[in-house]
Amino acid sequence: MHTRIFLTLAVASVQALAWQSPSADLTIRADQSGPQVNRQLFGQFAEHLGAGIYGGIWVGEDSKIPNTRGYRNDVLQALRDLKVPVIRWPGGCFADEYNWREGVGPRAKRPVKINTHWGGVTEPNTFGTHEFLDFAELLDTEAYISGNVGSGSPRELAEWVEYVTSPAGSLAAERAANGRKDPWKLPYIGLGNELWGCGGNMRAEYAADVTRRYSTFIKTPAGVRIRKAASGPSDEDYHWTEVMMRDAGRHFNAIGLHYYTITGTWARKGSATVFDEAEYAKTLQATLRMDGIIARHSAIMDKYDPEKRVWLAVDEWGTWFDVEPGTNPGFLFQQNTLRDALVAALNINIFTKHAGRVKMANIAQMVNVLQAMILTKDEKMVLTPTYHVFHMFKPYQDATSIPVEMQSPWYNKDASTMPAVSASAIRDKDGRLHVGFVNVDPGRAIAVTAKLSGATPASVSGRVLTAPQTNSHNTFDQPTVVKPAAFAGAAIESGALKVVLPPKSVVVLDLQ
Ligand code: AHR
Repeated sequence: MHTRIFLTLAVASVQALAWQSPSADLTIRADQSGPQVNRQLFGQFAEHLGAGIYGGIWVGEDSKIPNTRGYRNDVLQALRDLKVPVIRWPGGCFADEYNWREGVGPRAKRPVKINTHWGGVTEPNTFGTHEFLDFAELLDTEAYISGNVGSGSPRELAEWVEYVTSPAGSLAAERAANGRKDPWKLPYIGLGNELWGCGGNMRAEYAADVTRRYSTFIKTPAGVRIRKAASGPSDEDYHWTEVMMRDAGRHFNAIGLHYYTITGTWARKGSATVFDEAEYAKTLQATLRMDGIIARHSAIMDKYDPEKRVWLAVDEWGTWFDVEPGTNPGFLFQQNTLRDALVAALNINIFTKHAGRVKMANIAQMVNVLQAMILTKDEKMVLTPTYHVFHMFKPYQDATSIPVEMQSPWYNKDASTMPAVSASAIRDKDGRLHVGFVNVDPGRAIAVTAKLSGATPASVSGRVLTAPQTNSHNTFDQPTVVKPAAFAGAAIESGALKVVLPPKSVVVLDLQ
């Protein structure tokens, strides 16, 4: 009885709001199934950069910060709650300078190096292969090691893989002597990072040959599968994809794509927290370019790989703003606002749309670097708006995508123009429908009427993420300014889904 009164009220208030708002129309083809939305689309990236590893994940066993074998407990718990499916490590640019041998054996004896790429600080090598792979096991997440192709030899890379995966031989014995008897699982190995830049400044033609060579020597024990990921293009470098697919495509199972959302120029990227509406709109427009970029790289891949054997792995993406004032420019530490949350959700909708080819994505980066999930300072930790988006979209992991068609009003600000509403839909592993929406318009609610073909849900619930301002963010002192709330703006009416999306919001619905 109470439930019925509540539902009637909810429908009445959704109707009242809908009459006052611009409208959008969505068709959800629940009678059709698209490709699987791999859980690996919600992957993370953790580089030896700033406090991405040291302080952010690893504090050491003797730290006053509560930890499990050196990993901070608060971060472990937050990542477990997120169901992180895969973590890429140790870089980034750091990867092509890294010598894995310096990161194994007794910690006190490991050489202290200089992290020449990121801030020129010392790298103690305390967090190495064992620490990373044990961390992945603690989180029940897959490991993606990005190998050194730029400055290391094929032998070094081959031996690293053998050290990790082999049950027998001298390297396995060394691993056991270092504390790990059984081989680890290593589902992914990266064949260098940004070979066109910090990974060696190679031309595509040369990189393709190098990729063939390094790939040749990566061998795993019988029955152990490893997916080799080639270093892919940046942004709109379609030539790179063409050459790599044409000349080396048979030698890898995935190719990366790096596309960062940059609002200004590399020299002046703008502040993560201080921006006006024009800059806000520019950021969102820049992130929406991901759709077309993926489409064109995919079309090239389709030419050489029509069966879609090779994954497109967007293994670095996210916002890149100026570092926070007073912080080390080499540490890439930036705050994270509601604007970042909208960027994250827009990209998730784009990845879902391209789920047939995009099979992995790794946001840059997991803790304390660029568009982070988590920020830490000494013993304090805060979850960012981006973290909350990943949490809201958890039902998408390994779900089946459902085709959608959206007719949205436009959001315009100065030269920036884009559809106000973006949407995606999936059927989760238990057969339930979920719909993810983003309304980027900072000033107007949008009323969406969604026709559902092939589904007759009786009820809808969900969560919304919004905040008073586009630059609202969480701090160590005020950690819950931006956090998800139960959503009352959706109802099922005459078989259709009616939703009123608040301005500047992310909404994920569960239809039953
Ligand atoms: O994520 C920061 C850096 O961006 C990575 O190290 C590099 O691969 C990219 O240019």
